[in-house]
Amino acid sequence: MTSDDDAGTRGDLEGVAVRPPEHLRPDHDLSSFRNGLHASLDEWLQHRALASEGQSARTYVVCDHAAPFPVVGYYAISMAVVQRGALPTAKLRRGLPEQVPLLLIGRLAVDRRFQRIGLGTALLVDALRRCLAAAEIAGARAVIAHAIDERAAEFYRRHGFVRSPLGDRVMLLPLETARALVEK
Ligand SMILES: CC(C)(COP(=O)(O)OP(=O)(O)OC[C@H]1O[C@@H](n2cnc3c(N)ncnc32)[C@H](O)[C@@H]1OP(=O)(O)O)[C@@H](O)C(=O)NCCC(=O)NCCS
Repeated sequence: MTSDDDAGTRGDLEGVAVRPPEHLRPDHDLSSFRNGLHASLDEWLQHRALASEGQSARTYVVCDHAAPFPVVGYYAISMAVVQRGALPTAKLRRGLPEQVPLLLIGRLAVDRRFQRIGLGTALLVDALRRCLAAAEIAGARAVIAHAIDERAAEFYRRHGFVRSPLGDRVMLLPLETARALVEK
């Protein structure tokens, strides 16, 4: 998988016929997308993502190579702010103001027919690259992700995120860990 701009994943999904991640557009075919576990993630993509685009979130999609190029995976990134005291470790809190900027991966899902071939991992790495690029420009201390259930929390944990006191299944990855992960 290669990406549509410099922030994206390159070559992380050899042999899987998906197009590079791209910004969600009105002409993307979202109609067949089903993650198979949480209908709310399908509904948000199909009915709400476009309205949020660029206003409160940015959604990136990957499409199947086979025409008519249906969307088979997506994630959404937005900004978040938390109170410094809510960060889990003294190291994370050090030197920060009361209001700490973070980047949020609010949603990430893969169509059920494309799961367990590495696409979710490739999307996560792509999302982290974009978070790092955003933090280069504006500054952010960490990336957080809302895991929708315990299985999703385990998915994030395997990729280096830790549980945080910011909310139920709010997983956190310090920026320096994200950098190490994408440079691996
Ligand atoms: C969570 C989710 C995004 C993961 O997507 P995915 O594409 O299946 O993720 P991956 O393929 O990268 O990894 C999933 C599993 O497949 C395995 N896998 C990856 N590539 C593989 C391959 N080529 N062959 C066999 N197994 C493989 C991974 O090791 C992992 O296994 P594990 O769960 O036993 O550790 C997806 O299951 C999903 O959309 N779930 C519903 C929505 C959801 O829970 N979203 C989470 C955030 S809210």
